[in-house]
Amino acid sequence: YLGQLLVCAVAYLALYVAAKFTVGFPFVTALVIYKWRRRHLSMYENIEDFLRSNNNLMPIRYSYSDIKKMARGFKDKLGEGGYGSVYKAKLRSGRLVAIKMLSKSKTNNGQDFINEVGTIGRIRHVNVVRLIGFCVDGSKRALVYDFMPNGSLEKYIFSQQGDVSLSCHKIFEIAHGVARGIEYLHQGCDMQILHFDIKPHNILLDENFTPKVSDFGLARLYPLDNSIVSLTAARGTMGYIAPELFYKNIGGISYKADVYSFGMLLMEMTGRRKNLDVGIEQSSQFSQIYFPTWVSDQLKAGKDIEIGDDATDEEKKIIKKMMMVALWCIQMKPIERPSMNKVVEMLEGEIESLQMPPRPFLYPQQIPADEVGVDNRSPCTSSASESGEITLIADANEVN
Ligand SMILES: Nc1ncnc2c1ncn2[C@@H]1O[C@H](COP(=O)(O)OP(=O)(O)O)[C@@H](O)[C@H]1O
Ligand SMILES: [Mg+2]
Repeated sequence: YLGQLLVCAVAYLALYVAAKFTVGFPFVTALVIYKWRRRHLSMYENIEDFLRSNNNLMPIRYSYSDIKKMARGFKDKLGEGGYGSVYKAKLRSGRLVAIKMLSKSKTNNGQDFINEVGTIGRIRHVNVVRLIGFCVDGSKRALVYDFMPNGSLEKYIFSQQGDVSLSCHKIFEIAHGVARGIEYLHQGCDMQILHFDIKPHNILLDENFTPKVSDFGLARLYPLDNSIVSLTAARGTMGYIAPELFYKNIGGISYKADVYSFGMLLMEMTGRRKNLDVGIEQSSQFSQIYFPTWVSDQLKAGKDIEIGDDATDEEKKIIKKMMMVALWCIQMKPIERPSMNKVVEMLEGEIESLQMPPRPFLYPQQIPADEVGVDNRSPCTSSASESGEITLIADANEVN
């Protein structure tokens, strides 16, 4: 009897354990998996948050499936440029980003990708757009940036109907920020970063209209002491590209090329129009086709540059200061242009301490003509394509 009781008890126990095991095991496993995944995910989010926080170290590498998830099927397109399309996307943490998908056909051995990750990937500045991450997954290449809710600057300066118009003070603040951003690229890092494509489309605006220099697809890194650089191809956009990139004998290629592009940008921001506007030919103001020469002549004659209808005296002073700085930046010879450091100083200083810049020219041939006072050549001989938004990649031997 005792034996029977023992067998019974053992059987019950075995049954109990078996039942508990078969019922409990999946629960326990599920619980363990759930806990592990939660920990893992939150750890992932933690790390992501940490990497993205202010003292962030390096851009994060994403897989293409991450990119696809974040961009939700690439439905929301923000813009398109020479190197790919940019889409609005969202990180897991809810933060908005812009993802630039580099197009396969245009990738020059991934050089544009290397340029961007290699330059902004390593720096932080309020006036430079932040690279949060990147993706290299097979042939897919993407760059993940902080989303800039106010888009790019050209929307605000070449006024179209329905756009917000920025005040003169805001324009000045934006110009000052852009100058600080470029100054930092040139002198604030362990390497000199030359951008080579400064233009309104590549200046992004955050929610407070703080400007951020962006699009480092053409950028190059140089040692800080190397003042004259060599380029295998002229690069930039017509209307902003420095003359030494395609004319010989005016000076070597250096950081002064960015100063020139900034000057063209500054003049367009201040004048709220394109510098070279062939369309004006039809109107009566023939002399205004090449805006910088007209501005220079106005200033020399002691006249105000009328931009808005009712500018206050203070606004007129700011406009004049910005125009004078811009005219210094767009001097034909690189050696005559100021450094970005000096540009920031001039913008911050009083207008009275600025010297009158020499008259700017569109072509080097114009210089001697004007020096003897017979400059009546019109700058409108340029073809329409020269005022267009094309990216010029000239042959190497045209540069040297
Ligand atoms: N971070 C961003 N936030 C909002 N819009 C952006 C952002 N980055 C790019 N864009 C939009 O996409 C356009 C193209 O981006 P960009 O980086 O200049 O590429 P590309 O090298 O092709 O010119 C910009 O002019 C801008 O309108
Ligand atoms: Mg661009």
